[in-house]
Amino acid sequence: MGILGVGHFVPPQVVTNQDLLRFVDTTDEWIMSRTGIRARRRALPEQAASDLASEAAQEALRNAGVMASDLDLVIVATMTPDSPMPATACRVQHHIGAHRAGAFDLNVACSGFVYALAVGAQFIANGTYRRVLVVGADVMTKLMNWQDRTTCVLFGDGAGAVVLGAVERGFGILGIHLGSNGGGADSLFVRAGGSRLPAWSADVRPEDYYLQMQGQEVFRFAVQVMGEAALQALEAARLQPDQVDLLIPHQANQRIIEAARKRLNLPLDRVFSNVEHYGNTSCGSVPLALSEAHQQGRIQDNHIVVLVGFGGGLSWGSVVVRWGGIIKEN
Ligand code: ACO
Repeated sequence: MGILGVGHFVPPQVVTNQDLLRFVDTTDEWIMSRTGIRARRRALPEQAASDLASEAAQEALRNAGVMASDLDLVIVATMTPDSPMPATACRVQHHIGAHRAGAFDLNVACSGFVYALAVGAQFIANGTYRRVLVVGADVMTKLMNWQDRTTCVLFGDGAGAVVLGAVERGFGILGIHLGSNGGGADSLFVRAGGSRLPAWSADVRPEDYYLQMQGQEVFRFAVQVMGEAALQALEAARLQPDQVDLLIPHQANQRIIEAARKRLNLPLDRVFSNVEHYGNTSCGSVPLALSEAHQQGRIQDNHIVVLVGFGGGLSWGSVVVRWGGIIKEN
């Protein structure tokens, strides 16, 4: 099973570091030197995850040459669903006209897309389904406390999607590695709105609805786990790091991306980064980077592409893909 097409969508409003200076005590120099982020996108007040997800899905379907009506399943990875229920995937399924498809959400914070890709691939591999749409979408700006300079400068909104189907032998998804350590659950979380602290509870304070993060703790975890996750997935695929044509890491921080590059001993041109333009778009990050890399011609048939995610949970995951091998009459 492999990737037949890829697409992405970001809302048009650009928020630069300079724009942030108007309401938060920070500097362009601090943000750039610590994170490599120059700008991020911000959804309109009325835009939700399913709106971004549907746009990305439609581009992926066009790119794959697949009709929405041919989809068997829609999986949406998100930590900012339109609402706690129903699943955002159901709204996407309806919006794009995938009338034959089942639909469900998957929440593994920023690792969500890589997990969803691994899950979606199983339905193709075991012959249950022919066409699966996997979307990663987040509207992180809606989880931001714009007074908290330690988080609001880092995140942005975006979505990406892939269409999965059968490919020639030796192509497609060759290796998967997923991991988690729930002992670190409280280092990156949203306190209120779930069953532990319901939204209506008298104990809820406004800051409980926002994303809270122990930045340094998450940084140390990420630096350690990104390269390791990629190595594990490569081992599962029986490949060596020097066979990697393009590493597509979760776009959280340029320093973390650089640490992963060094761990795998890859030259600069074998690592894709667009964190400068979009910040951390959570579940959108990996497929958005994959789609841009593809559009820019950085991914060719037969290339070994390694996707790596990490995030809240704490969680991590990596998928190794040999690009191409698409079967024409598929
Ligand atoms: N502007 C200016 N100063 C700031 C800002 C800001 N935006 N944010 C923090 N500071 C200050 C701090 O208050 C601190 O000041 P002090 O020394 O006077 O106390 C100083 O800068 C240093 O702060 P640190 O937190 O030590 O900065 P650090 O170098 O660790 O960088 C950062 C912070 C960028 C958040 C880093 O820790 C990081 O990238 N962590 C990982 C975050 C991440 O990847 N999250 C993704 C999670 S994925 C998901 O599931 C959502």
